[in-house]
Amino acid sequence: MVFHRMNMHTNKREKTFCIIGCGRLGTNLAVYLTGQGYAPTAFSSRSPASARNAAAHAGGGKVFENAADAARCCELIFITTPDILIEPVCDQVAQAGGFGKNCVVFHLSGALSSEILASAKKAGADTGSLHPLQAFAPYSSGQTSPFAGINISIEGTPTAAAVGRNIVAALQARAFTIPTDAKTLYHAAAVVASNYLVTLEHFALTLLARTGLDQARAFEILEPLIQGTLRNIASKGSVDALTGPIVRGDEDIIARHLADIDSKMPQFSAMYRLLGRHTLDIARMRSDFPKAADQRLAGLLEKDT
Ligand SMILES: NC(=O)c1ccc[n+]([C@@H]2O[C@H](COP(=O)([O-])OP(=O)(O)OC[C@H]3O[C@@H](n4cnc5c(N)ncnc54)[C@H](OP(=O)(O)O)[C@@H]3O)[C@@H](O)[C@H]2O)c1
Repeated sequence: MVFHRMNMHTNKREKTFCIIGCGRLGTNLAVYLTGQGYAPTAFSSRSPASARNAAAHAGGGKVFENAADAARCCELIFITTPDILIEPVCDQVAQAGGFGKNCVVFHLSGALSSEILASAKKAGADTGSLHPLQAFAPYSSGQTSPFAGINISIEGTPTAAAVGRNIVAALQARAFTIPTDAKTLYHAAAVVASNYLVTLEHFALTLLARTGLDQARAFEILEPLIQGTLRNIASKGSVDALTGPIVRGDEDIIARHLADIDSKMPQFSAMYRLLGRHTLDIARMRSDFPKAADQRLAGLLEKDT
């Protein structure tokens, strides 16, 4: 049975929600949804202490040992366990009859789509995934909302997508929709944008450290350049933001870089060439790229040295 809740202060009906998996994201989600048209109603986690902690921070809701019992009394069910457990936990709740026909079930993984909630769908629920592009720390009282102003992707059934948009608005975040079969590529894009940016900057810092600067000083030196580049991408787009020797067609400079890297830091030769080849592809999209330099640059950046 699904319970409806009235907010004592506004007299408005609130959607009941439950959190299964009361860790970093589950607890933050419960805290920031509460009072925004959503009532914390049920919590369940591997350890009851985590569920009690989440309920206490959210300011309401009952703790259940069994996830299906928690799900049974809510309209919205969030499965916020580690990724690998979402599907088995969903299956277990479905088997125990925890999903009502009108409930909506979400998980919040970036890498997985709503298809892993198939058992809930089969039980008559609408299913979706919401992925907040944010790194969540454990909730601590007095923190500012980690959801405010961030972007959250939505995919799932049309009903789940509509419900998801309201949830995202309640969290004061911004929603965007992606097709279910694009979820993996979407996640790869997020990994490239964040993790591989770290790899790239680590590469730059290692080159600079070889000049004798310590790592902290090397970052201080590069930071205004990195921030300026990000601002240029934001204002002009990734093609027009490109500056430097490749787009200028300055093949001599690239030849010098390669000579030094090949002799002093050969472990980076392949990476420099690979990134150079992709940078050349971007340069070719620009009308100001000196085409006469194309062939020699391509030759310098070829795979085999
Ligand atoms: N943290 C982030 O930055 C972030 C960002 C975007 C998306 N996400 C997604 O959010 C989801 C949760 O990630 P998280 O970082 O919040 O993980 P987390 O802090 O490790 O929390 C996961 C919680 O699930 C509970 N749990 C484990 N097994 C369970 C089971 N069988 N049944 C019920 N609860 C169980 C854990 O238990 P106990 O505490 O009870 O032992 C833990 O509190 C993942 O899908 C992740 O991809 C996370």
